[in-house]
Amino acid sequence: MLKVITYGTYDFLHEGHIRLLERAKALGDYLIVGVTADGFDMARGKINVGQSLMERVEAIRKTGLADQIIVEEYEGQKIDDIRRYEVDIFTVGSDWIGKFDYLSEYCKVIYLDRTQGISSTEIRSNKREFRIGLIGETNIVNKFKNECRYVNGVKVVGVYAETDEFLDEELRILAEKTHSYEELFANCDAVYIASVPDKHYEHVKLALEANVHVLCESPIALSVSQYDELQQKASEKNLVLMDGIKTAYSLAFNRMMLLVKGGIIGDVVSVDATCTSLLNIGDGESFAPHIWNSLCWWGPTAMLPVFNIFGTEYKDIQRYSRTLPFRSDFDLFTKLAFVFENGVASIKVGQGVKSEGEMVISGTKGYIYVPAPWWKTDYFEVRYENPTDNCRYFYQLEGEGIRYEILSFLNLIRGHISYNQISCGISRQIISCLAQKL
Ligand code: CTP
Repeated sequence: MLKVITYGTYDFLHEGHIRLLERAKALGDYLIVGVTADGFDMARGKINVGQSLMERVEAIRKTGLADQIIVEEYEGQKIDDIRRYEVDIFTVGSDWIGKFDYLSEYCKVIYLDRTQGISSTEIRSNKREFRIGLIGETNIVNKFKNECRYVNGVKVVGVYAETDEFLDEELRILAEKTHSYEELFANCDAVYIASVPDKHYEHVKLALEANVHVLCESPIALSVSQYDELQQKASEKNLVLMDGIKTAYSLAFNRMMLLVKGGIIGDVVSVDATCTSLLNIGDGESFAPHIWNSLCWWGPTAMLPVFNIFGTEYKDIQRYSRTLPFRSDFDLFTKLAFVFENGVASIKVGQGVKSEGEMVISGTKGYIYVPAPWWKTDYFEVRYENPTDNCRYFYQLEGEGIRYEILSFLNLIRGHISYNQISCGISRQIISCLAQKL
C-alpha cells in the first residue's frame, strides 16, 4: 500500500485545498493529512488563523478525502511522522518548492501545482474588518494598539482617555477625533478597557448598553454584584465580556496548566506566585491618579494559576498589606495566603516593593519552577528528586501574550470558539478577593 502525507493549516477550507487533497490522494492508496495545531501556527507567526484546530480538522474530515488526520504540533515532526507511519510520498503545493527537499532522504517528495487565485489569506481579508476602540490612560493602551497589527482583521478606530499623557503619537491623533464614550462606541464593534479599576464597571456598562463587545483589563468590576450584573447584561445582549489577563492566553502557561492537571508533578499541594514592579509612586501631592494599587494591578494575574489549579472554593484566606501612609486604599505590597481542601497557595504582589517574580508549583512527585517574570514566560522546568528526570519546556511567546488575547477575543465574538480561558467563576472569585477591605 502506497502511503501519502500532506500538511497544511486549512483555514476556511477552500477549493485550492480540496484540489490539492484530491491530487495528493490520487498519488497513492492511503492519504494522511497533517493539520497544524494553533500553538504551532502561532509559534511560526501565523497568528491570524481564523478557525480553531477543531473546526479545521472537522472541515478536512467532511471532505472524505483523508484516510487519517493527524495534528502537527512541533518543528521537526514531519520526519517523525514519515518514519512512524511508513510514508512513501510527501506532497505539498508548489508555493513550498524546495522547502521540503530535505525530506527526500526519508521518502519521495512531490510538489503539486497550487490552484491560482485563491488562498486562506484572501478569504480572511475579505471578511469585514473588526473595529476596536480603546479606553485608558496607561502605556498598555499603546501596547494593545501595536499588538492589534499582528491579528488579522482587527483595526483600532478610536481611543478615549481622560488624559493623553501616556498615549503615543498615533493614539493622540485618534484621541483628538473622539470626544466622548458615546462617540467611540458608535464607531466600533468592540472595546478594550484599561481605565483605572474603579471606572471599569461604569465603562463596561456603557459599552454593553451601546451594544459593543468588551475586553476589560482584570478586574472587570470591584464588587461581585456589579460583575454579575455586567455578565447578565452581556449574555442578554449576546455580547462577549472577556477578562483581560494576558498570561491566560500564553502558550507556555496553558501547556503548564495542562501538564499539572495531567499529574506530571503528582498531587499539587502548594502554589506560590509573586508579581512585583517598582513604581515611582510619589508623595501625597504628586500621587498619580492613574496608577493602580498592587492588588488590582497584579492580583488577577497572580490568582489565575491558584484558582486554575485548586478551583475557586478556598476554605480560608489571610492577608497582609502595607499601604501608603497618605492613601489607605493603596497597597504598596500585599501577601494573600489561601487554604484549600487539599492544598495551600500564596500570592505576593507589589507596586512599591520589589521581589523575585517567580512561581513554584509543588506536588507529591516533583515541582514546576517558572523563572521571573513568570507571568510572561516562554519557559518552565519540571523538577524531580532525581535531577536526571528533570524536563525543560519552551514555547515561543510573542508580544507578551497580548496578541493571543486579542485573537481569543475575536474568535469568541465570531463564535469560532465557545469557551473563554478565564471562566466566569475565576473572574468572579478574583473580584471577591479584591473586594475584601484593606
Ligand atoms: N494550496 C493549494 N492552492 C491554493 C492554496 C493552498 O494548492 N490556492 C495548498 C498549499 O500549497 C498547501 C495546502 O494547500 O499544500 C494547505 O495550504 P494552507 O497554507 O493551509 O493554505 P493557504 O490558502 O495557502 O493559506 P495562507 O493564505 O494562510 O498561506
